[in-house]
Amino acid sequence: MVKGAMQQWLRVIITLLILLITEGHPVDITYLQSAVAKGAVCLDGSPPAYHFDKGFGAGVNNWFIQLEGGAWCNNATTCLSRTKTRLGSSKLMVKTVSFSGILSNKAKFNPDFYNWNRIRIRYCDGSSFTGDVEAVDPKTKVYYRGARIFSAVMEDFLAKGMKNAQNAILAGCSAGSLAAILHCDRFKGLLPPGAKVKCLSDAGFFINAKTISGASHIEQFYSDVVNTHGSAKNLPQSCTSRLKPGLCFFPQNVAQQIKTPLFLVNAAYDSWQIKNILAPGVADPRGTWRNCKLDILKCSSAQLETMQGYRNEFLKALNGLGPSSTRGYYINSCYAHCQTGTQETWLREDSPRLASTTIAKAVGDWFYDRNRFQEIDCPYPCDKTCKNRNFESDVQPVDMDL
Ligand SMILES: *[C@@H]1O[C@H](CO)[C@@H](O)[C@H](O)[C@H]1NC(C)=O
Repeated sequence: MVKGAMQQWLRVIITLLILLITEGHPVDITYLQSAVAKGAVCLDGSPPAYHFDKGFGAGVNNWFIQLEGGAWCNNATTCLSRTKTRLGSSKLMVKTVSFSGILSNKAKFNPDFYNWNRIRIRYCDGSSFTGDVEAVDPKTKVYYRGARIFSAVMEDFLAKGMKNAQNAILAGCSAGSLAAILHCDRFKGLLPPGAKVKCLSDAGFFINAKTISGASHIEQFYSDVVNTHGSAKNLPQSCTSRLKPGLCFFPQNVAQQIKTPLFLVNAAYDSWQIKNILAPGVADPRGTWRNCKLDILKCSSAQLETMQGYRNEFLKALNGLGPSSTRGYYINSCYAHCQTGTQETWLREDSPRLASTTIAKAVGDWFYDRNRFQEIDCPYPCDKTCKNRNFESDVQPVDMDL
């Protein structure tokens, strides 16, 4: 009992400290119980969940929706282990998260979106919200229902006022921003025809590149994800009609056909991609990349050269989308992953700049058609505004479990 009370107190103190550090504000969780009857559930069968901070003033009819990230599970084994984490069960999610950066409710920290309805949808399906398998796995009792979660939460927001939206953005970080790309046109279709609707991908442009040992690791992995979750029918048809479904999990193969305006914020040296696409553990059995992956300053010149090659491939994939008058992009040369949901990288005195512009300004200007921002940074290490720190997910540290 005493231990329980102590833990409660520690939790409160740590939460306060973190809110102070992140310059954010706490927002409580909402469990969408009504989704369960529709079979729209997390991997373990628990209800989906989100954090909703209501819009105010001139922002009441504007909706910003952020899909949480957290990679994927690719087979029965990895999806079963996920059910024992917050990424597979809403029973294990912390009840309060800190909203900062693009989710901040203060004009000073988030000038263009602070008074919008701001929502973070928790990620617990392991498929970037694309899965839909009717049968529950008889052996593991795992549910593959990510796409149903997406539909159920959207229905809920529409009923809560999103049906009257004037402005709306579907966004995300990492696996969540891949979901924002994959669901972008579907999202647009849910909203009133007169609404201004755009999609924002933060660290969601995962490229189909080979590992340092030359294996097609991520391509195989995505193919397994799509097969395990029955995702094919929920991926953009403009892609699945041409390519194998697993390949339609790559933004480079779908973004060109997306009709809704899309903004890509991504580090060309995205730290998740370097760790998991270029140099995953399986491709580096002797661990020669271990230190470099943790800290770019520890990379050898040969490793840096390999990373420059990765950047070239990244830019090639991006250029492959062809020109667009509505697309925006902010491709900096930081060693980072997810830069919009953290105040430090979104908008601050010392936050990253590209063409003298913060991410917050670039995204705001693009959304409101003040300026279509399309900039690519010079190669590492030219950019002195980078933090080159790991912002591994958009989950604030307050999310940690004591
Ligand atoms: C499941 O995926 C993991 C991670 O890629 C892999 O290590 C494991 O061998 C796979 N298991 C099966 C049964 O395919």
